[in-house]
Amino acid sequence: MQSSVDAAREAVRQARSIVVLTGAGVSAESGIPTFRSNGGYWQTQRFQDLATPEGFARDPKLVWTWYEERRRGVAAANPNAGHYALVELEKRAGRFALITQNVDGLHERAGSKNVIRLHGSIWVVRCLTCGVEQMNYEELNDLPPSCECGGMLRPGVVWFGEQLPDGAIERAVDEVKLADIVIVAGTSARVYPAASLIPLAAQSARVIEINPEATDYSEDVTWSLRGTSANILPRLL
Ligand code: OAD
Repeated sequence: MQSSVDAAREAVRQARSIVVLTGAGVSAESGIPTFRSNGGYWQTQRFQDLATPEGFARDPKLVWTWYEERRRGVAAANPNAGHYALVELEKRAGRFALITQNVDGLHERAGSKNVIRLHGSIWVVRCLTCGVEQMNYEELNDLPPSCECGGMLRPGVVWFGEQLPDGAIERAVDEVKLADIVIVAGTSARVYPAASLIPLAAQSARVIEINPEATDYSEDVTWSLRGTSANILPRLL
């Protein structure tokens, strides 16, 4: 393992263009639950109820109660050593992009600049009537919340069955194609199109996977480093 970390670190040092793809595991050490690993949301709850447009149409209050609970959890959490290592990596790299499936905003709070958010943000709300989108960090007590126009607000995240934000996956694909190193950290690689970036990366870049558990792509990457992101990402610097 140590020799793999050393080899990966040397490759990172020599890279001209670095792309990072992150998932919920990167925020686990900030105390934020993942979706599919131990204690993950989808182990005890149905994504159909909480993270689909149909679930929201059936019971917006239930969905909002879950999102508001998550918003308060994230507000009380702090970025961890993994988030900060990626900020440092961006400063050192010639070209750098951070593609994230996370909606918590912890990469931005840590100081990452070039972030492509594939699944939106838990801090954005969007009106179902007038379509206006805005940042909202307030505690929302009266759920579901309303827009000034009177319409109902929804969380500005991507749900199952929905399109990704305009241009997000295209930008991500372009960045991956330009990269010589792609770091994939804290994702189960089960949700598409995000996961499709990993085999794409393996075609032209060296790929470093960081995850305590194996994924479907662990065999296809250059270095599969078994460990947590807060432990391993700083060691790649
Ligand atoms: P998952 O919960 O599917 O996967 C989290 C991954 O992180 C697992 O492979 C864990 O082994 C790994 N992990 C756990 N702790 C870790 C740590 N400390 N360091 C590094 N890795 C760790 O989360 P995602 O892959 O992000 O989408 O899930 C993708 C999407 O599915 C999410 O964006 C969300 C979810 O449903 C929507 O809500 C649309």
